[in-house]
Amino acid sequence: GLDGHPDFMRKEMAEQPEAVRRALRGRLDTRFATAHLGGLDLDPVALRSVRRVKFLGCGSAYYAGQIGAGLVESLARIPADAEPASEFRYRNPVVDPDTLYVAVSQSGETLDTLAAVQELRRKGGRVIGAVNVVGSAIARECGSGVFLHAGPEISVASTKAVTTMGVSFAMLALLLGRVRDLSAAAGARVVAGLQALPERIEAALALDDEIAGIASRYASARHMFFLGRVSGWPVAREGAQKLKEVSYVHAEAYQAAELKHGPIALIDKDMPSVVIVPDDDIVVKNVSTMEQIRARGGPVIAVTTVDLPAGVADEVVRVPRGEAVLDPLVLGIPLQLLAYHTAAALGRDIDKPRNLAKSVTVE
Ligand code: BG6
Repeated sequence: GLDGHPDFMRKEMAEQPEAVRRALRGRLDTRFATAHLGGLDLDPVALRSVRRVKFLGCGSAYYAGQIGAGLVESLARIPADAEPASEFRYRNPVVDPDTLYVAVSQSGETLDTLAAVQELRRKGGRVIGAVNVVGSAIARECGSGVFLHAGPEISVASTKAVTTMGVSFAMLALLLGRVRDLSAAAGARVVAGLQALPERIEAALALDDEIAGIASRYASARHMFFLGRVSGWPVAREGAQKLKEVSYVHAEAYQAAELKHGPIALIDKDMPSVVIVPDDDIVVKNVSTMEQIRARGGPVIAVTTVDLPAGVADEVVRVPRGEAVLDPLVLGIPLQLLAYHTAAALGRDIDKPRNLAKSVTVE
């Protein structure tokens, strides 16, 4: 049931701290500053032989995979990327024996993702699942992997499953890093960061009233940009996806650095931009993006874990700082709330957005 919540999206957003605790339970190793993911079925020799990681998923699972790729590159220094599972089988993919493929799916039933797994297996690729539903088709076809432990997700717009995907990928990246050159001290910081994640998410959820206010001020916008750089970019993509899904406001995610190469032509007072500013080395670049937008009359909503210079944005949503590499997992929360409150302000049917299904098991 809804346990007193008005809809499942709201209930599932609120469940995220607990979902993250479940996803972490028994998997963090403080002694060796690493993670244990028993379902992977990969010993240290096999983990060392991985030379590339590719995440495959659809919709939010694809964007979560892009967050995962960033985590693997930062922590393990292995080249990694994400690709929409929906196209994979149609481009006669080059399947590389040294690549670890990760099939990402909440339901475990998405036909496009299942077909990508079958294509990989047919060609002898090494594929593991990152799946929420135990016993689902993708989980069975992969045979090994990591379960998300998000608990049942009913709302079409995925929230807690996406967050636990990020948590699972952080643990995978930590594990891949610790069999390579990630130091014990650096590993310990990630372990501590993961342990602190539920409280950071709690704090982000507590911004609810503030974000409801922002949503009501911008709900009349017909279009919105979501901008981010490096680890902020997949967060922006998922934020735009969520807004489109539940509010039907047109949202377009762009790499912030690409803005000046075209889309900046669209900036005016009716085109708000949500700018994601993680705690990284390029905060100053994101600040200058915000200045460029404001100089052209565009409203700016900053979503950040750092202290920004005063007056750089019209609205600043400030999420508590923590282990910076995990910022993409925390910065997604205010964007869920923004989508939710925009949809509520516009009177949308939040759990049953038009034209969408929870899992798409047909072509
Ligand atoms: C889409 C849903 O069709 O499938 C999205 O509308 C979801 O919300 C996507 O992210 C992938 O689903 P799953 O179950 O494979 O994670």
